Amino acid sequence: MRTVRTIAELRAALDAERVSGRTVGFVPTMGFLHEGHVSLMRVARAETDVVVTSIFVNPLQFAPHEDLDDYPRDLERDTSLAEGAGVDVLFTPPVTEMYPQPVATTVSVSGVSECFEGESRPTHFAGVATVVAKLFSIVGPCRAYFGEKDFQQLAVVRRMASDLSMPVEVVGCETVREPDGLAMSSRNAYLSDEERAAAPVVHRALRAGAAVVLAGETDPAAVRDAMAAVVAGEALAELDYAAVVRTVDLTVPDTIDPGADLRLLAAVRFRSARLIDNTGVTAPAAPTERS
Ligand code: PAJ
Repeated sequence: MRTVRTIAELRAALDAERVSGRTVGFVPTMGFLHEGHVSLMRVARAETDVVVTSIFVNPLQFAPHEDLDDYPRDLERDTSLAEGAGVDVLFTPPVTEMYPQPVATTVSVSGVSECFEGESRPTHFAGVATVVAKLFSIVGPCRAYFGEKDFQQLAVVRRMASDLSMPVEVVGCETVREPDGLAMSSRNAYLSDEERAAAPVVHRALRAGAAVVLAGETDPAAVRDAMAAVVAGEALAELDYAAVVRTVDLTVPDTIDPGADLRLLAAVRFRSARLIDNTGVTAPAAPTERS
């Protein structure tokens, strides 16, 4: 595996690969890698010829009061995990390489950026879309792998790539969980032992919501209430939001139609970290009339 720190060097390396007819797989990350990140690299490894992973803690997507300075970092460990996953090129640009001057050009995706995470973190998705647009421009034509763990981010990136005709195929990959159901996240490192023990409540709430949908509930508010009730049962957890949305555009339906393709979303605050998670569920089909 080769580590590259400049845009020019990465571009030259990947252009040469494409000229030789090889396909590029790209996995953008902020580092402090875990099995969730590694799973994306493995899918990229299986589906493309040259795998590039970026590690860049992007200041643009953190609000001033957020955890930019404290965001966990361990480049040595990340390097060996990426190498073990079969990554060919690790791109680790310094902030001055990515943002040599104050950023005047940003990308914002209206609609899908504005709800849920966008409400709690109003500047977050413009920061994500801007850095991902920049990374796509640097990496060039590729397949880019994103986790469903950050489902709204995936929707924002897909919409951006489509609206701007980027030569990138965005691929969503399943969430990797700890044995007790907690979705893996770099931010889990912030949790105290007690909070870590309580954290699977997020996944339990999503499963409870999915069970209510599968039992035939058609009122989105009732599904949300079922999720909220599970979170309310955990003293260390405070619900930020829970919702059932259409998978296609993350809008909340007035009523759940038979066979609807839905996503349950939840964000839960613990004292030391805010966790997000989601799961997919298909509403039961309408009962067929017996003849
Ligand atoms: P980061 O949080 O490091 O995540 C990098 C990628 O790993 C994202 O696509 C995320 O959805 C995925 N991921 C995280 N946890 C996962 C899990 N448990 N299972 C599967 N995939 C998981 O997301 C970002 O970085 C940044 O916003 C970024 C897109 C790199 C832009 O800065």
